Amino acid sequence: MSASWVNSAERIGSDLHLELTGPGGRRAALIRALREAVRSGRLAPGTRLPPYRSLAADLGVARNTVADAYAELVAEGWLTARQGSGTRVAERAEPLRPAARVPKKTPARPRGPRHDLTQGTPDASSFPRTAWLASYRRALQQAPNEVFGPGAPAGRPELREALTEYLARARGVRTEPGRIVICSGFAHALRLLFGGGVLRGPLAVEAYGLGFHREVLAAAGVRTVPLPLDEDGARIDRLGRERAVLLTPAHQFPTGGPLHPARRAAVIDWARARDGLVLEDDYDGEFRYDRKPVGAVQGLDPERVIHIGSVSKSLSPAVRLGWMVLPERYVDAALATKGEREAWASVLDQLSLADFIASGSYDRHVRRMRLRYRSRRDRLVTALAEHAPHIEASGIAAGLHAVLRLPPGTEASAVKAAAWQGIALDGLAAFRHPETDMPVRDGLVVGYATPSEHAYGPALEALCGALPPP
Ligand SMILES: Cc1ncc(COP(=O)(O)O)c(C=O)c1O
Repeated sequence: MSASWVNSAERIGSDLHLELTGPGGRRAALIRALREAVRSGRLAPGTRLPPYRSLAADLGVARNTVADAYAELVAEGWLTARQGSGTRVAERAEPLRPAARVPKKTPARPRGPRHDLTQGTPDASSFPRTAWLASYRRALQQAPNEVFGPGAPAGRPELREALTEYLARARGVRTEPGRIVICSGFAHALRLLFGGGVLRGPLAVEAYGLGFHREVLAAAGVRTVPLPLDEDGARIDRLGRERAVLLTPAHQFPTGGPLHPARRAAVIDWARARDGLVLEDDYDGEFRYDRKPVGAVQGLDPERVIHIGSVSKSLSPAVRLGWMVLPERYVDAALATKGEREAWASVLDQLSLADFIASGSYDRHVRRMRLRYRSRRDRLVTALAEHAPHIEASGIAAGLHAVLRLPPGTEASAVKAAAWQGIALDGLAAFRHPETDMPVRDGLVVGYATPSEHAYGPALEALCGALPPP
């Protein structure tokens, strides 16, 4: 056998992965596979095909099957067969070429918003690159070899230890590393707990909240029951037959206030009396500006609360790391649901975050960002006082967004007016539970952390220009 036969045979039998699938038997499947290889250019014009017996052996089919397929493709003009030179891809069997590019007319200028004041993200330009890199380097240098093997569903012990200390100190969470399960953020925690069957609905949720979380729950088959809000937060007295309640006690999302201390106590009483459970979404608990942060409800009764946090607001949503602090009785079920192979967060990122926290970089970053966001909040309040004194900003004691209260019935036009001025933001309606009967609140949700530092001034100016007149 000549070298060229061997090469062709190897290419066609192995490298090209001819898949004999589909209807009509092996012969029809081989014809389709060869035709497709020629058509797509994987077999170039002039390429010599392997003899029947080599290809038959490679593919595990009878020699006649190959002979028939070749004959058919010769008859169709895809292949040529000549005495002495074997079977080749026909010269005129041109592979498909990408369609010639039709030059576009003058490209339209992107018409996206010029000022991004949507809530949700921290200032991406403030990510602590240098400190994170230092933590990553140290984590990589010190990591034992086992780190590069399969991980464990609970997450790295280094991170769970660092979080135990940090959450106790900064958020008043009472726990131990064995009750912490690392995940990829709050939404992932919901998926694991409800999608994985650790918890079941119906679940009470605040009447205003993140629609995306309601979608995650609905996808897991969980019915959410809206709990009305008043100036003291969620109406705990309206809890009914639900098994669990999801709250944002430190800073109601998105309306802004903390859950009143009497309601914090009341929800724990409810959980104890009904064998219920509180899910605590502590999404921006570190950012409180005028007083000490409000501690986690979990500290009141660690056996009745699942405390869930993530670095999506404090560092960046791109890091995709979060944690569940679980009552002991849920730990095994949460680990089982996470499974041996399901979505561990990157172990190297976990180790970096562990170092970032333990080395004090996390505290330094949070302190720096707290000052920065507080100053932005103050600039917003000052700008409103100067240019739109009829509009009150609420929910401003904490967090990364404020709500500008509007007269009833004016929200939709205010959102439209902002869009006309190139400002992206949402109205409160975007967060309202579709089944709630609580009175509608009109307001604009302004994410003052989102723009980078240099873009904030112009965004604020544009916002003031777009607000409804008195
Ligand atoms: C109300 C609320 N909870 C939690 C989170 C955190 O979500 P995740 O950890 O899935 O990024 C966010 C978004 O950042 C949020 O707006």
